[in-house]
Amino acid sequence: MATQSYGSVYARWRADPSGFWAEMAEEIQWDRRWDKTLDESRAPIYRWFSGGQLNTCYNVLDIHVEEGRGEQPALIHDSPVTNTVTTYTYRELRDAVALFAGALRAKGIERGDRVIIYMPMVPEAVIAMLACARLGAIHSVVFGGFAANELAARIDDARPKLIVTASCGIEIGRIIEYKPLVDRAFELAAHKPHTCIILRRPQCYVKLTASRDLDWQDAMAAAASAECVPVTATDPLYILYTSGTTGRPKGIVRDNGGHAVALKWSMKNIYGVTAGDVYWAASDVGWVVGHSYIVYGPLLQGCTTILYEGKPVGTPDPGAFWRVISEHRVKVMFTAPTAFRAIKREDPQGRHVRRYDLSCLRAQFLAGERCDPDTLNWAQAILKVPVIDHWWQTETAWAIAANCLGIEQLPIKPGSPTKAVPGYDLHVLGPQGNELPLGEMGSLCIKLPLPPGCLPTLWHNDQRYKEAYLNRYPGYYVTGDAGYLDENGYVWVMSRTDDVINVAGHRLSTGAMEEVIAAHPDVAECAVIGVADPLRGQLPMGLIVLKTGVRRGEDEIKAELVQRVREQIGPVAAFKLCTVVQRLPKTRSGKCLRVVMRKMADGQSYHPPATIDDPGILDEIALCLHKLGFPRRA
Ligand code: COA
Ligand code: AMP
Repeated sequence: MATQSYGSVYARWRADPSGFWAEMAEEIQWDRRWDKTLDESRAPIYRWFSGGQLNTCYNVLDIHVEEGRGEQPALIHDSPVTNTVTTYTYRELRDAVALFAGALRAKGIERGDRVIIYMPMVPEAVIAMLACARLGAIHSVVFGGFAANELAARIDDARPKLIVTASCGIEIGRIIEYKPLVDRAFELAAHKPHTCIILRRPQCYVKLTASRDLDWQDAMAAAASAECVPVTATDPLYILYTSGTTGRPKGIVRDNGGHAVALKWSMKNIYGVTAGDVYWAASDVGWVVGHSYIVYGPLLQGCTTILYEGKPVGTPDPGAFWRVISEHRVKVMFTAPTAFRAIKREDPQGRHVRRYDLSCLRAQFLAGERCDPDTLNWAQAILKVPVIDHWWQTETAWAIAANCLGIEQLPIKPGSPTKAVPGYDLHVLGPQGNELPLGEMGSLCIKLPLPPGCLPTLWHNDQRYKEAYLNRYPGYYVTGDAGYLDENGYVWVMSRTDDVINVAGHRLSTGAMEEVIAAHPDVAECAVIGVADPLRGQLPMGLIVLKTGVRRGEDEIKAELVQRVREQIGPVAAFKLCTVVQRLPKTRSGKCLRVVMRKMADGQSYHPPATIDDPGILDEIALCLHKLGFPRRA
């Protein structure tokens, strides 16, 4: 039972942020105490717990073995696509991680070196991440649904010495071979990692590339266990690339100390779980949700975490989630609203829920995209537990706004992720940086400093960090989301303020897709917009202007563009909607009116700016959208 109120905890944090986090940091095992809780010497770049030393891997594994939880399951790999369930106790996971850390060390990996992990949802992905943390090396996990180009871009930015991969991932009814993608990325990247360790899965045998590749099992067999290497609190634990407005992804840096403190705090106070509880985030290790709430958060807290290699539907049916919850006695679950929409589409009455005993489930958390009230209400009706929407982003690693179940459950307002979490001083700013009144929509900003766990900067690029997030409103971090605060202090996150779209809970850049499309020899110019989709929340749609004199069939060109985006960004972009238009609507200064086109596609009212170059173009666009079935009827 919660004994404190949200208001009192928030007020306690607000009165003394450094004191608050210093107290929370006592929950972490330090090799050396920090000198300064909040180091402001390089503001607006802030550092938490500077001077402190710790090892994150020690805090997620060894400590639990030493404290007597060695035989408790740490990780359950539940894989309907391979029909297997594999459990690692804390002792087994620690031993496997220590051995793989030894294998990495044998290949010259040391503190500060980067390692890229490009793997499906297998335990070895988690083992590789934690092995890096054990050595003080910096991992950068790349989501398996990204193509070779995206992998190459990350190789060139992170400059890893080594890549860890698998022979394949498994999608429904389809094997995704990873080696050809990795080989292609090696060709494309200017930087060449010296080694590639490959987990050869039984579903797909691959031949190793001589002098570069090493088989996972062979590497483990030859390795000697490695101990935890203490690192400074401000040393990077990982880099995770995320979409920005351009095709060049941003390398979000996560430190060791602040991250461990914040995530451990979040497990107890936001999710309300303690050591021994089973916690399941149905996401992918390639996303921030996977980093924070499949791997680090639950293990810091001594929970059992579930690594689910399957989908909400089709593996084998829309009861898949309920099977996992009941079989492994999950107490708290976390997924994206899209997953619920997919289940609802196939099982609107929630009949599959009745096949399972879900009495273990206390709460269902949702994040990754705006949660429409219908989905939240439906989930609540079938699960009969609180369904908690919470809002965060790759940059923050943990929730900016949530209903903190471990502190006090506040009334749920469907459509709102509730209130700012202690640690975040949230403001709604207008175009001039002025504070907007309650109820008025503006830019959602966090007053600096950001709490522990949030990005201290971008990888090797303080300048881009400042330009992308800090310069717009001095003293504030710009989230890139637009929304408002209501009269009860609830936050409403409505849309992005930039060219980022959210497809099935996956964050994608329309700018990156435009770059790929614009490079096609027949395309004069293009715009990609995110249009509303009942399943995935949004889908990208390309509006293409062909070069004059192009005689080839439009359908052929459109098919090539779809294929190009798939090959260069990845299938996860779900780019399938494309239409040829004569011109794009623009202002007289040449700015493309993407927001106007998005509103037209979504059937919303729109007001073209007075500076529009030629209002007649909008009628042409409306006609093209109509032919594609837009605006869609519910
Ligand atoms: N490796 C390779 N390909 C992948 C992949 C991976 N790890 N993940 C997805 N893809 C492919 C899919 O197979 C699909 O390919 P297709 O175009 O050939 O069909 C494409 O990328 C688009 O994937 P997705 O949008 O996920 O579609 P889907 O039909 O496979 O699944 C949902 C739809 C709603 C079931 C799925 O998106 C889902 O479970 N979403 C939950 C969201 C989530 O976990 N978000 C993480 C943040 S919390
Ligand atoms: P990512 O960095 O991939 O986690 O995506 C973060 C973005 O997803 C945020 O900036 C929001 O635009 C969106 N988002 C995440 N959670 C929510 C939520 N609960 N409500 C509204 N938008 C959300």
